[in-house]
Amino acid sequence: MAFDVGSRTGINTSVAGRLAGKTAVVVGGGQLPGETVGNGKAAALLFGWAGARVMVVDSHLDRAEETVAGIAEGGGEAFAHQCDITSEAQCQAMIATAAERLGRIDVLHNNVGIGTHDGSPTRITEEGLDIMLDVNLKGLIFTCKHAIPVMRPQGSGSIINISSVAAVSPFPGVGYKTTKAAVNGYTQSLALRLARDGIRANVIMPGLMNTPMAIDANLAYRDVTRDQLVESRDRQVPLGQKMGMGWDIGYAALFLASEEARFVTGIALAVDGGSSARVG
Ligand SMILES: NC(=O)c1ccc[n+]([C@@H]2O[C@H](COP(=O)([O-])OP(=O)(O)OC[C@H]3O[C@@H](n4cnc5c(N)ncnc54)[C@H](O)[C@@H]3O)[C@@H](O)[C@H]2O)c1
Repeated sequence: MAFDVGSRTGINTSVAGRLAGKTAVVVGGGQLPGETVGNGKAAALLFGWAGARVMVVDSHLDRAEETVAGIAEGGGEAFAHQCDITSEAQCQAMIATAAERLGRIDVLHNNVGIGTHDGSPTRITEEGLDIMLDVNLKGLIFTCKHAIPVMRPQGSGSIINISSVAAVSPFPGVGYKTTKAAVNGYTQSLALRLARDGIRANVIMPGLMNTPMAIDANLAYRDVTRDQLVESRDRQVPLGQKMGMGWDIGYAALFLASEEARFVTGIALAVDGGSSARVG
């Protein structure tokens, strides 16, 4: 039986050929262990199933390899690469490998982000803030720094940076909110600087998502059951009182990666079921 993307993602539309002939680097394309699909993995799978050749990058090679296997299941082409993006040297080597093995970089998708090590204004620690700055902001700046010289001679490229609606909505953690707001600001300036080169740069701001990062990883710190955590997050979402799935971020990324978004640059797209539109 033919591979059916709709039965996996819950959205019954075809992605076939939407990224035909393109190449993509998905940084943080693995996912934490859990019951649902992560944002980065969903994007990498959809890119691959839509016909892009994909380099799946993760600090945990086994996580990247799982995504590669998922792309192959749908008839796509991908390979895994290990990189810790908090090291500029590793970012540089990662982009060099991408350029060598893919020949060009049409899409750079920066998904890596953590919410751990955070704190309130009076509880944030120097060590915690340094880690969040390194992982959520510095890494992404250096993947872009090294990818841009590959994209420039192509005269095209799509950079997609993942921040969070926490950037523009009330959020208690200083490190997470500040680094995600910085990702929005950085991407906006990137978009203007790169516009003459034909390179687009956009942000996706996920809202409350039902992903392993938000659910499974959080259960370790909370005295609630999985169902209770899911229900309490579901209730906060205006649209249908239900969190989004990693697939929703993946489909938004697929649009921004594709030619359909050729006139879209410098935006911060909330994919949040209306959460950031709500006041009170
Ligand atoms: N899940 C949500 O509810 C939610 C909401 C808003 C924003 N986000 C954002 O979405 C992104 C992550 O979503 P996900 O579901 O894919 O999470 P995930 O944690 O499941 O996947 C991220 C991947 O990044 C990898 N990674 C972590 N640190 C790395 C590093 N230094 N170098 C290379 N790889 C590294 C991890 O190994 C993991 O496989 C983050 O930017 C996060 O802030 C998530």
